[in-house]
Amino acid sequence: MNKFEFQNPVKIYFGEGQIASVAKEIKPGSKVMMTYGGGSIKRNGIYDQVIAALKDCTVVEFGGIEANPDYDTLIKAIALGKAENVDFTLAVGGGSIIDGTKFIAAGMNYDGDPWDFIIGKVRVPAAKPFGAVLTLPATGSEMNCGAVISRRATQEKYAFHNAAGFPTFSVLDPTAVRSLPKRQVANGIIDTFIHTTEQYLTTAGSPLVMDRFAEGVLLTLVEIAPRLLADGERAYDDCANFMMAATMGLNGFLAMGVDEDWATHMIGHELTALHGLDHGVTLAIVWPGTQHAMRREKEAKLLQYAARVWGITEGTPDEIIDRAIAATDGFFRSLGVSTRLGEHGIGEDTIVEIRRRFDERKWNLGENGIVTPEKAEAILRSRL
Ligand code: NZQ
Ligand code: ZN
Repeated sequence: MNKFEFQNPVKIYFGEGQIASVAKEIKPGSKVMMTYGGGSIKRNGIYDQVIAALKDCTVVEFGGIEANPDYDTLIKAIALGKAENVDFTLAVGGGSIIDGTKFIAAGMNYDGDPWDFIIGKVRVPAAKPFGAVLTLPATGSEMNCGAVISRRATQEKYAFHNAAGFPTFSVLDPTAVRSLPKRQVANGIIDTFIHTTEQYLTTAGSPLVMDRFAEGVLLTLVEIAPRLLADGERAYDDCANFMMAATMGLNGFLAMGVDEDWATHMIGHELTALHGLDHGVTLAIVWPGTQHAMRREKEAKLLQYAARVWGITEGTPDEIIDRAIAATDGFFRSLGVSTRLGEHGIGEDTIVEIRRRFDERKWNLGENGIVTPEKAEAILRSRL
């Protein structure tokens, strides 16, 4: 078990009707910038609930933040927030809106070009206070201090972390899951699944408690996925379990004492940057390749995963691992996601470009840097 520090200051309001609690967290009279996406919140009633909760505040709206939030859009929000001198920013949406708001909240405290802190040129400034109303379980952004920002103009996508930039509170109302299109449910299930494995499928000897928690998240997702994707209204408890799994998957909790991987994510981000694929889809494509290419380094945990998540115990280690990878790939495909590069019209050129970028950035990814640029290329090649 590795030594670790753990602190998570985010206050969570969980349950149906909790959007009204926004009123308890933001002082009456505050000037609040409300950030949101392309309009789903206006169709499912969440916008009205937030506006009602903010009735004693002045609200400045910034809508239109896209999935994989774009630098050029967020820069406009920073300018608006500065011009209006807002006291608080409230993100209402999925990971893209919450991540974008983290960038906005830090950018309002920075005089230079905020891209500087995305690329690590300067330290990320402490963010101005912000909170979140989550509408899509997936990223854990509502309870972590990370954000991922895209820049379409240069086909880049990078993550940044701001230790002083956790949301002050987040509202998790599971009924938001009911209006999600199946595509976004699938994305959220896959993202949560792979956040968990990034912190679980690494080295043997990690904390037994964390292994069991991680397996609990994975088994929960496998159990509820078919029900969440069936036609008809989604049951409250399935929505609530989905939301809890996603938040617990990436709020720092599962990372206690463990080695972490994240190679699948970093390779996936390049596929989004170059081709605009949904984040969850990129992970479903890359994940089987990562486990296939790194099977020797990850062998003990892959065998544990096979047995405890999929009940696969018969055969040689390689046979068991092959079957566990196939079962996982089959699970992703059962959610309606195509898991091969070729199925998305992506081929050799992209693999060459990602290899070039990783060589240039000298990126050795994965636990202990075991995923070299050469391995990343092999991972992608196995997914053609
Ligand atoms: O824009 P609107 O109209 O609101 O529609 C959104 C969007 O099109 C829709 N949606 C959200 N909630 C809805 C809904 N539609 C109906 N009903 C609802 N309740 O869903 C679409 C996708 O939303 P988005 O916020 O992009 O999805 P997600 O939460 O998957 O976020 C993806 C982004 O998060 C980053 C990803 O890289 C990507 O940029 N990540 C952030 C992480 C973090 N902060 O820790 C970690 C993750 O690994 C991930 O990288
Ligand atoms: Zn993710």
